[in-house]
This record gives sequence, C-alpha cells and structure tokens, in this order.
Amino acid sequence: MNNMYDKVVESRNYIQSKNNSMPKIAVILGSGLGDLVDAIEDKQYIDYKDIPNFPTSTVQGHEGRLVFGKIKGIDVLAMQGRFHYFEGYTMKEVAYPIFVMKQLGIEKLIITNACGGINTSFNPGTLMIINDFINLVSDNPLIGINDERFGTRFPDMSEPFKIELIDKAKKVANEIGIEYKEGVYAGFMGPYYETAAEIRSIRNQGADAVGMSTVPETIAANYLGMEVLGIACITNMATGIQKQKHSHKNVVDIAQKASVDFCKWIAKIIENIG
Ligand code: HPA
Repeated sequence: MNNMYDKVVESRNYIQSKNNSMPKIAVILGSGLGDLVDAIEDKQYIDYKDIPNFPTSTVQGHEGRLVFGKIKGIDVLAMQGRFHYFEGYTMKEVAYPIFVMKQLGIEKLIITNACGGINTSFNPGTLMIINDFINLVSDNPLIGINDERFGTRFPDMSEPFKIELIDKAKKVANEIGIEYKEGVYAGFMGPYYETAAEIRSIRNQGADAVGMSTVPETIAANYLGMEVLGIACITNMATGIQKQKHSHKNVVDIAQKASVDFCKWIAKIIENIG
C-alpha cells in the first residue's frame, strides 16, 4: 500500500479497534514535558510500534506511544514522543500522526516543545505561547502531489496558531497565576544546537525562540483544518545569548522543572476549550 490516505485510514482503523473514545483535543508532549500524562485519567496506551504504518521514536525522553484518557472529564489524546526530521524521517513521516489524528476526529491540537530562548527577556524555565513560526528547514510535509481529501494545495498560513486559543490560554494563565511570554518560534533542522552566528541571523529574522520540532506538525494541522495552540518551554538560552554549553540532559531537566506549571496550565486550557 503506497497511498498515504489509505495508510492513514489503516492506522486509524487499528487505533479505533483498540480504543473507542472520541477525543476532539490532542496534545503533543515535548522533551521533558511528559508528566502531563500523570494528569490523564482512565488511561489507555497504544505503542507507536503496534500501529500499522506509524513511524517509531528514537530520541531519549520520548516514549513513543499514544495515550487516550480524560483530563478534567474531557476526552484527550496525548502523543508521548514525536518524530523529528533530524532523525532521518521524511517530513511526511514527521507529520504522519497529525494526519491520523485528523481521521480520528481531532479538531484542536496543542503542540508543546522544549526550545532555546533568543528573546533576552526570557529565562530557562519560561513558558512561551507561540504566536507564529518561521520554517528554517527547506522542506515541509506538504511537498509532493496533493491529495484533496486531506486539504487544499495552497493552504493559508496567516494564523498558524489560532488566536482564539491563544486568548483562552492567556485568560487561563492569568486566572491560575501562571507566568508566560509570547513569541515567534523558529524551526531549525538540528540535530546540533545552533552556532552563535546562526542565532544572530535567526534573531534578525524575528525569532524569539528556536527548536527542532513543532513547525512540520503545525503546518500539517493547519492544512488539515485543525486549530493549533503552541506552548514552548524555554529550557536554555540559545547559543551566544548566554555563555553556556548545551546538553540534552539539561534541556530535559529544565523542562521537567517547568512541567508542574506547564501541566497545571495545559489541563486548565483543556477544561476551557473542551
Ligand atoms: N536550540 C534548538 N533546539 C533546542 C534548544 C536550542 O537551544 N533547546 C532545546 N531545544
């Protein structure tokens, strides 16, 4: 079977044969942000490796499974572990789960990540609402022949992160006393952390934060007609912004520290948009 639509339907059929909840909200959990799964009740797990046509995750800190259940009484689907372009997947593979989510009936997608801060008003641990993105990778999941069953050939990208969802996230944060910033996320290919010269260049392009994920999934979700909310955890200041060396361990450690506020916030957002 080489038709992507048929593959996606096959993946969906397998998932539906294992789980009969009908979530309309999904969350992609970034590095070190997997604790949200603890807030999910009546959990049911489906390992990526068991889903026909699904890619499998290779990065440390990424579990590689779908988690179905309820947060504050609302059906949700969480992706614990995502796929990155730098792992060698094609952009279509990176975005594949989003195509499956659409078939499962997901309407709103919360995309989270750990990333480097470029805006000097940020600190490690800052939570940032993503209000726009810059795709620094000369590739995206929509390249190739378009299948109109998924979406239009030339999708609009003027509101990649839904303003209504951003406003709700802000309102909820203010209600429960979560501090947040807002900014533009630049998607860098990786897997190396950027050079200082690259960060200067990205900063000049208008980015507030930089990471190695999120952009392909956001493009695919918009193409598929889903509403996206993006929440980034600044785990370190980007190269040259602060004098320090980067490590994945540090990224995961800082994300885990921020994850108490992060989980509280996401759970409350879900309650408000569900
Ligand atoms: N750059 C790119 N990706 C990242 C970073 C960074 O500084 N921190 C966490 N993910």
